[in-house]
Amino acid sequence: MKKSILATCLCMGLFTFGCQSNKEKENTDKDNSAPIENKDSHSKSNALEINPQHVSLNLEVDFDKKQIAGSAKWLLKPNENTDKAVFDTYQLEIDSILYADGNKAEFKIGSHDPILGAALEVELKKDTEELTIYYKTSDDATALLWLTPEQTFGKEAPYLFTQGEPIYTRTWIPSPDGPGYRFTYDATIKVPEGLLALMSAENPQEKSKNGVYEFKMEQKIPAYLMALAVGDIAFKTVDDRTGVYAEPAILDKAYNELDGLGEMVHTTENLYGEYKWDRFDVLFLPSGFPMGGMENPRLTFATPTILAGDKSLLNLIAHELAHSWSGNLVTGASWDDIWLNEGFTVYIERRVTEAEHGADYAAMLWDLAEKKVDAAIETAGENSKDTWLKLDLKNRDPENAFTRIAYDKGAALLLLIEQTVGRENMDNFLVKYFKDHAFESMDTERFLTYLDENLLNDNEEWKEAIRVEDWVYGPAKPSNYPKVKNTRFEQVSTQVDAFKNGTSAADLKTEKWSTYEWLFFFEELPSKLTLEQMEDLDKAYKLTQTGNSEIANAWFLHSIKAEYETAYPQMKEFLYVTGRAKFLSPLYSEMIKTGKSEMAKEIYKIARPNYHPIVQRGIDGILK
Ligand code: BES
Ligand code: ZN
Repeated sequence: MKKSILATCLCMGLFTFGCQSNKEKENTDKDNSAPIENKDSHSKSNALEINPQHVSLNLEVDFDKKQIAGSAKWLLKPNENTDKAVFDTYQLEIDSILYADGNKAEFKIGSHDPILGAALEVELKKDTEELTIYYKTSDDATALLWLTPEQTFGKEAPYLFTQGEPIYTRTWIPSPDGPGYRFTYDATIKVPEGLLALMSAENPQEKSKNGVYEFKMEQKIPAYLMALAVGDIAFKTVDDRTGVYAEPAILDKAYNELDGLGEMVHTTENLYGEYKWDRFDVLFLPSGFPMGGMENPRLTFATPTILAGDKSLLNLIAHELAHSWSGNLVTGASWDDIWLNEGFTVYIERRVTEAEHGADYAAMLWDLAEKKVDAAIETAGENSKDTWLKLDLKNRDPENAFTRIAYDKGAALLLLIEQTVGRENMDNFLVKYFKDHAFESMDTERFLTYLDENLLNDNEEWKEAIRVEDWVYGPAKPSNYPKVKNTRFEQVSTQVDAFKNGTSAADLKTEKWSTYEWLFFFEELPSKLTLEQMEDLDKAYKLTQTGNSEIANAWFLHSIKAEYETAYPQMKEFLYVTGRAKFLSPLYSEMIKTGKSEMAKEIYKIARPNYHPIVQRGIDGILK
């Protein structure tokens, strides 16, 4: 649990309006806001009563203090008889709150919950439709990663980026922070001169002279999609509505990898209907970015670890782009419904990948994903409700929602529906779904009704073939889990056998292999190779030196198991600079499992400051 720098009010042991200072005081009272039907269990806000419409941010980014400070002006349309507005906050220091007429509003801050933070309750007058909250962030705000110049590619300027999903926006903006609550925003952001600021909004393409930037996002979005990045960033146009942002040191590399970005947007539009967000730009972050990608609207954030030089890892961009339909346009109403975002998105990602690279290529991805579902089920337990698509995360951290179940079991259900009703019916259904529910939230129950009414209708045969309830409210892999014919891995299996039987690495037939054949190859090899086998493979394919992060990751895992020390210097370098959680936990866990905890701790001591707080928490847990 993080120590709250925000002590809350202990004004006679009760929430007390008029308790101005929220510092160095404690309040143990419970949040007593009225229960609302269908309320998001991870938000304390009364958004359904105050109907937030818009927020205007006026913020200054201070790299010395590692703090964002300023104001958030909320426009609300409160229901009649609503006498308070409740916002989510997490360790925010609230200085004051003003009504439109400049008078101070009374407010109180509820007890701090280590997962959810604290409710900020503001008194509403009869006609209040505007509240301006003056506040500062704390120095360990989870959404914010402050990088020193050394942690960037350019090594000269500091860098800041935010990560809002699932519930971290409340650590830098007091907000109704639930995926079911949407609003528009605009922002004035002041940053040190010489740096560029970007948001999930209409963006500048070059630096301003004075470090002040204006943004607007005119489409309604939920709080988790608010995002900011500040750094020495430059831009390169791909086509009239797409482009790439990155530090100058990697801009050309990023551009070369993504020169087909405009095409990818067209391909996706052809499948699922018009792209609704005007521009689609991609920002490549420094290596400390903890995710692969994050679908911030208009500006996807991406890890530089997908810049393999051969476009082989661009399914990640297809994935984040797909969220422009599933997730950003139609949004899962709560974190329990996350499969409506991630499962749909993986399905669409596969369809885009298929359109670009062919069905045999996409089939490899389906195949690898099924293995991940198997592993997730094993971790959770076959009968665990965590293997249902509809989750129940009440009183739990919504980070728990993001497992391969939501992603790959979710996608597999859509594939099953496609295989059952035929591709044309499926595509028409999805186009209509995104159109009918654009800029709305959707929960699992309403989706199932919509599916029934708009696709399955009364077709009992289809319903029986799909048995959707078994997937959504049932554990593990239903018996009708769809199969995809995958021929390309058969050839890989043949080579694995040959290698096991003594064929030298250089004689294996690997010429046409993509990244995915290699990943399958590493999975199929015996889990512990001999040192001779490792040397043989390394000599033939220069695996220790590979610039492909996915292949490096798989190779380093084998290196740890085989104690192939030749690869250790490169592996350490990889762990020092890469902050991507997906790679880090398997590598550290493998070191622990194979009795190399000393080595793991030594590496982590150097690497830890480069990791995101969310990742640090995870690795701290592994190494404790
Ligand atoms: N929305 C997620 C990022 C995310 C995950 C945010 C978990 C908060 C918690 C994003 O769309 C995503 O799924 N990214 C994947 C890449 C993808 C190709 C599966 C990632 O970051 O690995
Ligand atoms: Zn996703």
